[in-house]
Amino acid sequence: IHKKIKSICCIGAGYVGGPTMSVIAQKNPDIKVTVVDLNEQRIADWNDADLSKLPIFEPGLDAVVEEARGRNLFFSTDVNQAIAEADMIFISVNTPTKTYGAGKGMAADLKYVELCARQIAEVATSDKIVVEKSTLPVKTAQAIKSILDNTGNGVKFQILSNPEFLAEGTAMTDLANPDRVLIGGDQTPEGKAAIQSLVDVYGAWVPQAQIITTNLWSSELSKLVANAFLAQRVSSINAISELCEATQANVEEVARAIGMDSRIGPKFLKASVGFGGSCFQKDILNLVYISKSLGLNEVADYWEQVIIMNNHQRDRFANNIVSTLYNTVSGKKIAFLGWAFKKDTNDTRESAAIYVADRLIDEQAQIYVYDPKVSAKQMQADLNYLSTRTETENAKYLQTQTDPYKAVEGAHAIAVLTEWDEFKSYDWQKIYDNMSKPAFVFDGRNVLNQEALEAIGFQVQSIGK
Ligand code: NAD
Ligand code: UGA
Repeated sequence: IHKKIKSICCIGAGYVGGPTMSVIAQKNPDIKVTVVDLNEQRIADWNDADLSKLPIFEPGLDAVVEEARGRNLFFSTDVNQAIAEADMIFISVNTPTKTYGAGKGMAADLKYVELCARQIAEVATSDKIVVEKSTLPVKTAQAIKSILDNTGNGVKFQILSNPEFLAEGTAMTDLANPDRVLIGGDQTPEGKAAIQSLVDVYGAWVPQAQIITTNLWSSELSKLVANAFLAQRVSSINAISELCEATQANVEEVARAIGMDSRIGPKFLKASVGFGGSCFQKDILNLVYISKSLGLNEVADYWEQVIIMNNHQRDRFANNIVSTLYNTVSGKKIAFLGWAFKKDTNDTRESAAIYVADRLIDEQAQIYVYDPKVSAKQMQADLNYLSTRTETENAKYLQTQTDPYKAVEGAHAIAVLTEWDEFKSYDWQKIYDNMSKPAFVFDGRNVLNQEALEAIGFQVQSIGK
């Protein structure tokens, strides 16, 4: 007989932990949900009375937090107390690509996950269900289990894998209406009971048919595979965009033509300056690393090509700006519209904008960026993280503007790096009037009306057209 969950703790109050737990708390008013993090500022922001200060921007998140916070949803830095109280603990910490040692630049860095497991082992005095929410290499549950099962204090643990499939910018609707919820666990009676406890939590709002259960390893692996397939679609259409540019085919027409085949499907076929985000690259590299470690070299090479293509697409976009501007951008002002890795998020991790800016700054361009949700501090931090040049130099070449019309004033070219809706409704005549001529637009997202801009006098280049 399975246990009814009364108290949940989630370690990690980031892009996944925060929104996911907010929805679990909203839909299960009888479960106490405490989200904990080591980062004091982040927790303070989650607790801010002013909901516009929440550390993550996600449409609809503020309303859910307002409904549940203080009722059965709590944000705290007291990790130990939350662990002690909980009968179910989610691990939702970051699992970045390793930057040192074996597997540097490829493998997932599991130190934060292991620290969580050790802290749970140390603090727990009653039986717990531990849920992997972070994206992890297949077989990680084995390591977590081994840490938890060797405390010698008699506390029993069940490990579940429950990967998250939300996309940023649409997190709240994805969580409220998931295509599926995946739960993996041991196929023993105890494992199955633990799975059922978590099924009940989601069952508060997700139809049973959409909650699927598997063994642990299928669940862990499925998360990496889902991201690999999604990223592969973007790289596939981006590869075709280059072919379109060389042949006068139009990538949007090609995408539409193939997408109407129900076996292919219309989604995720938008050519772009390249995918970004914290996960696609990291998770594919992880998959490549695992395959290589198992001696599956062809499998590794196959998936690595998705990353190679994406890097190429970003470089190609930057190089095209340089060659179109008469092979020199030195001292020229180039305005970026957008810095986030996609619209409706303030997340900039691995955004194509960072790499395009870096390449153009190599050519001594002056970049002026406008993004409706990203701060100047964040942009500098993103560029500095690449360690291409000193922070002082980066600050000299990259400026942030909070007014889009100021960002484009006097610019030789505009590059659209994020598909924010507001870009479409700008006064493009006014923008044209205030730019250097010829006025170039490089639409890295194919969001602007090319014909209308050309009628004004702009020289426009899009992706795959
Ligand atoms: P994040 O960096 O936004 O949040 C992680 C948080 O964990 C940070 O605030 C950090 O301070 C905290 N943390 C780290 N170690 C801790 C510890 N020992 N104790 C307490 N707090 C600790 O990361 P994220 O984007 O939420 O991603 C988390 C995981 O979810 C990753 O494995 C990621 O691959 C996966 N994922 C992310 C997304 C997404 O859209 N961002 C979607 C699906 C899955
Ligand atoms: C992605 C997956 O969609 C989620 O299911 C998954 O949970 C998540 O990764 C994760 O594991 O972190 P996310 O990165 O938030 O979500 O956003 P996506 O909508 O997938 O976009 C990723 C990148 O691909 C963006 O830069 C986007 O602009 C780009 N993209 C997407 C395209 O260039 N073309 C497309 O057709 C679709």
